[in-house]
Amino acid sequence: MRAVLYICLLAVSAANDMEPLTKAWARREDVCKLTSPLTFPWMWECKKGACVRTPVSEATNGMTLGGCKLTCGKGFTLWPKPTGAITLGKTPLSFTYSQVIVIVDAPQDVRGLVEKAGNRLKETLRDMRPPGGSCLKLSSARDANLATRQLTIRVTVERSDASLTLKTDESYKLNITHTDADQLEAHIEAKTFFGARHGMETLSQLVAYDDANDALMTVTADVRDAPVYPVRALTLDTSRNFISVAGLRRTIGAMAMNKLNTLHWHITDTHSFPIEITGEPRLAQYGAYSPREVYTRAEVEELVQFALERGVRLLPELDMPAHVGYGWQWGEKAGMGNLTVCLGKEPWQEFCVEPPCGQMNIINENLYKVLKTILVEYRDVFKPDLFHIGGDEINLNCWKTTPEIAAFVKEKGGDPTDDEEYMKLWIQFQERVYDMWTSIAGEQKTILWTSHLTQRPAEESRLDPSKYIIQIWTTGKDQQIGDLLKQGYELILSNYDAWYLDCGGSAWVGKGNNWCSPYKSWQTVYDNSPREIAHSFQSSSDTVASRRPSQPLRQSDFSTQILGGSAALWTEQADDANLDTKLWPRGAALAERLWAEPETDSLAAQWRLVHHRRRMVARGVQAETMQPKYCHQYDGSCYIN
Ligand SMILES: *[C@@H]1O[C@H](CO)[C@@H](O)[C@H](O)[C@H]1NC(C)=O
Ligand SMILES: *[C@@H]1O[C@H](CO)[C@@H](O)[C@H](O)[C@H]1NC(C)=O
Repeated sequence: MRAVLYICLLAVSAANDMEPLTKAWARREDVCKLTSPLTFPWMWECKKGACVRTPVSEATNGMTLGGCKLTCGKGFTLWPKPTGAITLGKTPLSFTYSQVIVIVDAPQDVRGLVEKAGNRLKETLRDMRPPGGSCLKLSSARDANLATRQLTIRVTVERSDASLTLKTDESYKLNITHTDADQLEAHIEAKTFFGARHGMETLSQLVAYDDANDALMTVTADVRDAPVYPVRALTLDTSRNFISVAGLRRTIGAMAMNKLNTLHWHITDTHSFPIEITGEPRLAQYGAYSPREVYTRAEVEELVQFALERGVRLLPELDMPAHVGYGWQWGEKAGMGNLTVCLGKEPWQEFCVEPPCGQMNIINENLYKVLKTILVEYRDVFKPDLFHIGGDEINLNCWKTTPEIAAFVKEKGGDPTDDEEYMKLWIQFQERVYDMWTSIAGEQKTILWTSHLTQRPAEESRLDPSKYIIQIWTTGKDQQIGDLLKQGYELILSNYDAWYLDCGGSAWVGKGNNWCSPYKSWQTVYDNSPREIAHSFQSSSDTVASRRPSQPLRQSDFSTQILGGSAALWTEQADDANLDTKLWPRGAALAERLWAEPETDSLAAQWRLVHHRRRMVARGVQAETMQPKYCHQYDGSCYIN
């Protein structure tokens, strides 16, 4: 009996674990507890693009709040804002929630992906109805045809691309029509599965629960849409603190709601090595915080698939040669010499940027054997089209003060007290790792963080703009951005003065606030424009030079070298307990910036983001609260001059 009970419990928890997003209804006020339905004294009227709460007795064209948001303004409920033409009807059209039909027309290779996305869309729509239905006295003018009015969704995909690359066409067209036979039909057309999935996301944002009719409602629509940047990412660290697989799934699900397409996974760091490498199990054995805090190979493979189904690539980072340490301690005992050096060395300020210290022993040949094992496994598991090899915050003093490395320099005829010698070793390491990766995974650009190396001109750093994409983590005003653009590098922006989500709050070493305080508000995130940053480094002479017909077009505008951006959550002070509130709604602000590069600023986006954030909460993401609910019920009432 006990055993049986135990198995049941296991089954339940496994099922919950598979569920990407926890249903949040039970925690919301939307569950109707009243024994007799309420006559609600308010309606909403659309006035100059704002939904204004109005007493029923005074309303001339009153709607439910959901109906008003759906039809008021130009795509109020859409997030991120579409970049193409939008036409929306002015009247909410109700339909029965019990049957939504999805018909897929797609090449064989992607049909499964499209069908799964269609099934999730149906679930999303079905879940819009609160358990128990409406809490309002149902409208007496309830449409008699409602019960038979269905929504049929036809999804057409042209190409069979089943993986995301920098060249993937993510555009889509969506229209919703009301047929003569009084049915609702939605058409989504896209070149790729990825575009079609975005179209389904948009469709779900054009549907709301209709509590006056206990039904769903939508509007007639015609939307054309495509993203501005191909890399729309979050950077998430799982080394300083572990994030559960459920937390990663929820994050990927939330990214999909925002059409973010890349989870840049900073898997390992000095603090812990939480991923199982089946070819070298000692890494996780020695490096994980506990045997439970490990991503097994099977889990990672499943996550890669889970993400793909949601239009998200998992972009792995193996940060090196700094930001390594725990996980590599077994080398000497195993007869392979020290694989890392300076591990836990004190006082830490002299050897690294944060405790504990650790850096690769780049003169140890055995290190490269282990690296190869990891890289082969990363290729097999992630099948990445983009790979990140870290490269940040190397401390030359760590190598210089390591007798084994200093002796190596001397042996080669160098001066072991000269920093430049260690710089040379780093450059050689960088070239060797790049060659190793491309020989394993095939020719592809790899990503590096900005560092002392990227600050140097390419002929000195020997970094080739055709081989490397640089991810910027310095400020958006750093001259290095201009220098890199001028040399022809493609960039991903993560400038910490706007896109570091860990900034603000208590310090984790010492007193006061943490290093990159203040907190980056969603407004700061939203208003950080890669295009403006690129243009700010473009002098008129750059433009003139580019007018020569011999110059390739991409040289003429620095912003075309921006692949996109990534907001980073370093997890010294984050784990499953605060993951959602750190990432959202700021990740949504980022998503609109990267999808649309809007001309307008955060102030113009505020009402829409408040609405979108509520939708995210309803779908199971604990996005942080932005305003009193009153402001959502009374657009425009919460302002300051
Ligand atoms: C909607 O899209 C379908 C499929 O492309 C097309 O046949 C139909 O004419 C479109 N309707 C409107 C109103 O644009
Ligand atoms: C390896 O590191 C340990 C700890 O720092 C040190 O005591 C030892 O001498 C190192 N081994 C070599 C061969 O340098």
